[in-house]
Amino acid sequence: MPLSISIFGLGYVGSVTAACLAQHGHRVIGVDSKPEKVARLTSGQAPVVEAGLKELIEQACRASLLQATTDFHEAILNSDLTFISVATPSLRNGKLDLTSIECVCRQIGEVLRVKQTFHWVVLRSTVLPGTTRSFVLPLLEASSGKRAGIDFDICFNPEFLREGTALADFANPPFTVLGVAEGCDCGMLRQIYSQLSAPVYETDTTTAEMVKYVCNAFHALKVSFANEVGTLCHEVGADAHTVTKIFTSDTKLNISPAYLTPGFAFGGSCLPKDLRALTYRGKELDLNLPVLNAIIPSNQEHILRAVDEILQTHKKKIGVLGLSFKAGTDDLRDSPMVYLVKRLLGEGCRCHIWDQNVRLGQIVGSNREFIDNMIPHIGALLQDDLGEVLRSAEVILLATKDLKRDEILHQLRGDQILIDLVHLQKPATDGLARRSMHVADLRVSNALFLQAAKPI
Ligand SMILES: NC(=O)c1ccc[n+]([C@@H]2O[C@H](COP(=O)([O-])OP(=O)(O)OC[C@H]3O[C@@H](n4cnc5c(N)ncnc54)[C@H](O)[C@@H]3O)[C@@H](O)[C@H]2O)c1
Repeated sequence: MPLSISIFGLGYVGSVTAACLAQHGHRVIGVDSKPEKVARLTSGQAPVVEAGLKELIEQACRASLLQATTDFHEAILNSDLTFISVATPSLRNGKLDLTSIECVCRQIGEVLRVKQTFHWVVLRSTVLPGTTRSFVLPLLEASSGKRAGIDFDICFNPEFLREGTALADFANPPFTVLGVAEGCDCGMLRQIYSQLSAPVYETDTTTAEMVKYVCNAFHALKVSFANEVGTLCHEVGADAHTVTKIFTSDTKLNISPAYLTPGFAFGGSCLPKDLRALTYRGKELDLNLPVLNAIIPSNQEHILRAVDEILQTHKKKIGVLGLSFKAGTDDLRDSPMVYLVKRLLGEGCRCHIWDQNVRLGQIVGSNREFIDNMIPHIGALLQDDLGEVLRSAEVILLATKDLKRDEILHQLRGDQILIDLVHLQKPATDGLARRSMHVADLRVSNALFLQAAKPI
């Protein structure tokens, strides 16, 4: 069913969205504060340079499906929903400038005050997590005198198009993300994107806002990583193209979801050692490689965050479940848990450690040397009896996938705290899982790592 849609901001995102939605048969009214942009679109021209856009706009104008105006009243009163795609540039200090968003929200609110029918406001501009809920929504409510969820609804719907291939990207996005308040019916929005084959993810607004930033940060990281790899290849005499070709052909570990789930720090006998060697070689070659050089400090920082969180409990008796660098191995070399325990011991904590794979008598060679150097009295801390470790601890650190959190939780007393280092905190309103997640027995805190305790 064709809809009437107003689009605020006729820049790269707005004009492409306007033309594409008109192509899908919707009636689109573009709004821009700059009369020259409106004039261009009204005369069938593209307000920005983008392959294929001019033809699409011409076609849409001829079919009377696309018009443009500076009159925001007319646009909102004559549409079912409004897309906001005004710019959100950086201020000099990097802070996000929400001036245009604020201005548009006040304009929309002013019209909603007199509009008799329900209206959707869809924010497409990139804004930081929390902006829709804590900035846009209160602004719309205050300026309209109406209530979200009753008189109007709001959605954060990030745009993933790239300039230069914008039309193709709009038609074929990786996914569509609809960030809405809990219980909100997104039927109309789903309908708009029903012609696209990409999956539609419905989540809360903050998660949707974060997805956009994570995507862009990752894309930027990929470019910088690739460029540092290329620089190193050049200096060490390796063929960067062949390296990249082989590297990217691994869709199991390299170009895949592997290693991209937040959890605890990395460790083991290879990653830290090889990164140290590579970055040291970079230094020898007088290369400044900030991305590669930042990886080990970032990993250490993650261990310190866990230490901090444990110390924040103000408990001293710590039960550590899992010491090796990952489940199913007895390799302690560069295990983040060894660093974490050493740090806790230095802070005066008493640690009892259980790891089903670590038998001190059987650990030899460099593995033994590492642990003897790091924690010489490790033998006195290792325990065979998991039940005893659980009973004697005030705080239990779950640091191995060999054990299931729910099974451990089941064995705890109400006064004990479980800190799960394997899985990050999932807030009660966690995005996609929110409707199915059972949190009755979790004491959800603001902690990064998941903290749980049975109700006392
Ligand atoms: N350009 C991209 O490739 C791209 C891709 C994805 C997301 N985004 C995000 O989308 C948003 C828009 O980006 P853009 O590149 O299209 O911006 P842009 O600067 O090209 O266009 C913004 C438009 O908004 C207009 N505008 C400003 N205030 C207005 C008001 N009160 N009423 C009506 N119009 C108003 C401006 O005149 C301008 O034409 C930004 O948040 C950006 O981060 C951009």
